[in-house]
Parts: sequence; structure tokens; C-alpha cells
Amino acid sequence: MPTTVVTNIGSLVTNDPALGDGPLGLIQDAAVVLDGETVAWVGPAAQAPAADTAHDAEGRAAIPGFVDSHSHLLFAGDRTQEFNARMSGVPYTAGGIRTTVAATRAASDDALDANIRRYVTEALRQGTTTIETKSGYGLTPHDEARALRIAAAHTTETTYLGAHIVAPEYADDPAGYVALVTGEMLEACAPYARWVDVFCERGAFDGEQARAILTAGQKRGLVPRVHANQLGHGPGVQLAVELGAASADHCTHLTDEDVDALAAGARQTVATLLPGAEFSTRAEYPDARRLLDAGATVALSTDCNPGSSFTTSMPFCIAVAVRDMGMTPDEAIGAATLGGAKALRRADIGRITPGARADLALLDAPSHVHLAYRPGVPLVSSVWRGGVRELV
Ligand code: NIG
Ligand code: FE
Repeated sequence: MPTTVVTNIGSLVTNDPALGDGPLGLIQDAAVVLDGETVAWVGPAAQAPAADTAHDAEGRAAIPGFVDSHSHLLFAGDRTQEFNARMSGVPYTAGGIRTTVAATRAASDDALDANIRRYVTEALRQGTTTIETKSGYGLTPHDEARALRIAAAHTTETTYLGAHIVAPEYADDPAGYVALVTGEMLEACAPYARWVDVFCERGAFDGEQARAILTAGQKRGLVPRVHANQLGHGPGVQLAVELGAASADHCTHLTDEDVDALAAGARQTVATLLPGAEFSTRAEYPDARRLLDAGATVALSTDCNPGSSFTTSMPFCIAVAVRDMGMTPDEAIGAATLGGAKALRRADIGRITPGARADLALLDAPSHVHLAYRPGVPLVSSVWRGGVRELV
């Protein structure tokens, strides 16, 4: 395998405290050697071993590629009108999902494939090298399996979300829909999915329905993650921790008991915060400080979807989390990289350490802190994904 040394890195986030300063394992004047798909060496540039080719970072900061552990990229259409109405005071509800379900069912495979490709590329340009994505806009066995099959060509992190809302055809028979989601639909989708998710919220699925759906997924070999406590208080967070879910996502409305549960379950269940959703629904942001101080493991993610959060930008989420959710820049960058990796139970990403996947981004900035300090500025200048330099 040809090796590449990325040298003259002004400041490198490794996310390994053994390699550098503080929790981010920061190294100044650093170099990283890539050997094929993996990181072979990390350290001070002056000590870097020789490599086949060299890339001069010219003093730029380098960070692990972002791990966006929560998105919904299998959809057609958009919901501009709904956003417009919200910005004039109309509240967000789960019911808007039906608009996207109709557009998605009507779209061809090629149109859905082109759409996800576009958004994965858009995310990559902003430094995202791993992205999880969900079904949930098909809501029939055929349409959910089709979404996951198309998604699986773009990412290994695919999530079965047949339980996004009750399908319109089952409006009068929610129990029948849960039976479908835990039966025929699960069978059709499981071959293309790693995870199972449910929107546990008023207007979607209650605690008992969510439990039935998640445990059916577990029996079929899928690992749970939960849309929990987004629009109001509810049983989602406690259920996620109880079932050992990989993540409880949103965590916007939390009781002290919910926070305690996430702290106690911090080694299993990551609290994934999605500030794009509160931004785009004009809602209160989740309190990241409260979760961090309690000892929960926190991830940041985009939740990219056409209804509640139409952004692919992890830098945007970092800036909001720092400005309005009580996170320090170091905590937010950690949550967008290593935090996302933990939410996906991946030890090979979210860090720049020997043996990790060679996923890294260079910033047109001297420090990772600029991601929050310079909001809205496209700072990502180069990205390596699996050792391949992208978008050059
Ligand atoms: O995570 N909350 C459930 N699902 C999405 C919103 C989906 C939509 O409005 O289309 C979310 O915010
Ligand atoms: Fe979501």
C-alpha cells in the first residue's frame, strides 16, 4: 500500500488523550501517516517517518472526519411551505411526515438514489466521513425495504425506521400497523439494516408500542436506537436505556430521572443531540451542559431530513451547540466525532490514532475552535475518507 504523510498540521485533534493534550489529545505541529485505508502513525511532524507521498497542510488544523450518527436521507420532495408556515408561528408536529411519505413513495429508485448521493456528498464537503441514515418515509414493506437497499449502497450504517409514524392506511388501526412493522416489514428490511429505531412521541408511537417494535428488531439481530423526548416528556429515554439502545436521540425534554438514567447508562446509550431540529422548528435547545455534568455520553448530529432539520452541516450543529447548548468548543468537536462513533459503536472512526480508519479533514483555520468561532464559514478544505483524498 502506498503511504502518504500529511505534514505541517498546525493543530491536530486525535481524540486520544494518550497522544496529546487534554481530552481531545491535541498535538501542535503534527503529522499523520496514512497507509492505504488506515492511519499508520501520528505524532510531531519533526519525528514523522518517511512516506511515498507528502501533503503539506500549511499550518491548517486537522480533525477526525465527522461522524453524523443520525440522518434521514431517503426521501423525495421538500417541505419549504411547512417551514415557511412555522416561521410565521405554526407549530411543528409529527404529522408533516405524511407529506414526505407521499412524495417518497411516488419517486423512482433512481431519484431516491440521486437524492441520497447528493446529500452524502454535501455532507462530505463539510467534513462528514461517516453518516448513518434511516428509512421511515416509505411505511410499506416494499417502500421501507427499497429505501434501505438504496441507502446500503452509500453507507453501512442503515437504520430501519418503519415506526416513524403510523402509515396513513392504518390510521384507524395502529395495532395492525405495529404488527406489520414487527412482522412482514421487519422481515423485508432486516437484510439491509444494522439498527432499528422508533419515533417514541405523542402523535407517533407510545412506550409500549415502541418496546414491542424495538424488541422485535433485537430478536431479528438489529440494535435499537430511539427518537426520544423530542417534542415533549415521554418514556423514550428510559426505554432506550433499559433496552441497552446505542443511542437516545433528541433528548430535548428531560426530567431529572431521564438525565440520571442516561448518566447511569453512559457506557451503552449515547445521548445524541440534534440542534438542527430545534433551530428549524424554533424550539428550545436541549441542555447539553446538564447531560455532560451528570456524566452522560453526548453526541452531536444533524438529523438531516426535509421536515424538521434540513441541514447536512456538522459545523453548523457544533456552532449552535457551543453558542446555545452550553458546550465548550472542545466538547462539541468531541461529540461530533468520537461521540458519533460511540453512538454507532464503532472503535475505528471518530479518532486519528494508529489503526483507525484514515478519515480526516483539514480546516482553513489554525484551530478546531474556529468551527464554532467562525459560524457559517466553509472551513473544511480537504477530506480523506478511508485514505482517499476526496473532492480535490
Ligand atoms: O428526527 N422526529 C422524527 N423524525 C424526524 C422528523 C421527520 C420529519 O418531520 O419529516 C426528526 O426530527
Ligand atoms: Fe430524526
